[in-house]
Amino acid sequence: MQQNKLKKHSRFYLIDLYAGQGGFISGFNRVDGWEHFLAVEITEKHCNVLREIHPNVPVLQKDVALVNWEEVLDGTEIDCVIGGPPCQPFSQGNNRRNGWNDPRNGVPTFVNAVKNINPKTFLMENVPWLWGSSQKQHVQKLIDELIEFGYTYTDAAILDAADFGAPCHRRRLFIYGTKLPHEWPVKTHKGKHTSARNYLAPLLSNREPDGAPLPEWVKPKIKGSKGDIIVDCKQGNKMGRQYVSLDEPCFTLVSTQGIRHRIRYKGEYYRMRAPEAAALQGMDARCTIDGIGNAVNAWQAEAWAKTMKKYLIDIDQNA
Ligand SMILES: C[S@@+](CC[C@H](N)C(=O)[O-])C[C@H]1O[C@@H](n2cnc3c(N)ncnc32)[C@H](O)[C@@H]1O
Repeated sequence: MQQNKLKKHSRFYLIDLYAGQGGFISGFNRVDGWEHFLAVEITEKHCNVLREIHPNVPVLQKDVALVNWEEVLDGTEIDCVIGGPPCQPFSQGNNRRNGWNDPRNGVPTFVNAVKNINPKTFLMENVPWLWGSSQKQHVQKLIDELIEFGYTYTDAAILDAADFGAPCHRRRLFIYGTKLPHEWPVKTHKGKHTSARNYLAPLLSNREPDGAPLPEWVKPKIKGSKGDIIVDCKQGNKMGRQYVSLDEPCFTLVSTQGIRHRIRYKGEYYRMRAPEAAALQGMDARCTIDGIGNAVNAWQAEAWAKTMKKYLIDIDQNA
């Protein structure tokens, strides 16, 4: 790893674990001062997308559990480790979730990596179910371990990306750890959410409606709705509303069902394709639906990038 080992206080070294197609990275790229040291991701397709759209990020295609951190770091001091371990074991959208003992559970591996890298601060993201269910005890045990390790100010909370300016909702669990007192991101858009229309209308105006007819069973569910709406064509939808006005934030986008969202715009129906989904998540239009539906929302990530940068500057100045 060819990196300057001398710490430059105006640049903060970042490692992203389980990087996917870079939702976290897109948000951190909106804030000056972050320098990507490494992104680790196991899936070749996601690595290729990452390399194409974020050429400033060194990507390592590998299982996070198998990374030899001593070799990779070669003495470099890392400021921040972020990561969203796979959420399938805990996701409410996955009927085959197995919880903590699911072999895909990457949370303990994330915690081990943090201990090996020993950054000044870390942030883990996952689905809310992990923090409000029978799984919470396991997470609490790992938080206690991290506190014992030296991340004295480790805490967890569920935040909605729409409260940070995103044109879609996305409630996610964040676990934030530092060795000195910290602040959490400020909810800049609580009560004044951004409409999905701002991001979707320019894209839809530039393409033909693809005419995708709504499934028959959806039609009664949206009866009485007016004007431009986004429809979630999932049978027995328990996760949220069946439709939402284009003048509100969209519901949470998902990866598992492929393209199941439709948009009624000026009386015509459109499938929500990757460019529309990417716009709502603040990602590049070249990302794929699965990468977008699994990502941290970029507005949410941007709020974290600002908060964590402020923490790092504060501790530098007080050192
Ligand atoms: C929830 S997604 C992360 C999304 C990412 N944080 C973002 O903001 O776009 C989890 C990612 O972990 C990857 N993954 C799963 N198991 C892994 C492992 N053992 N090592 C590295 N990556 C893994 C998956 O391919 C998937 O892209």
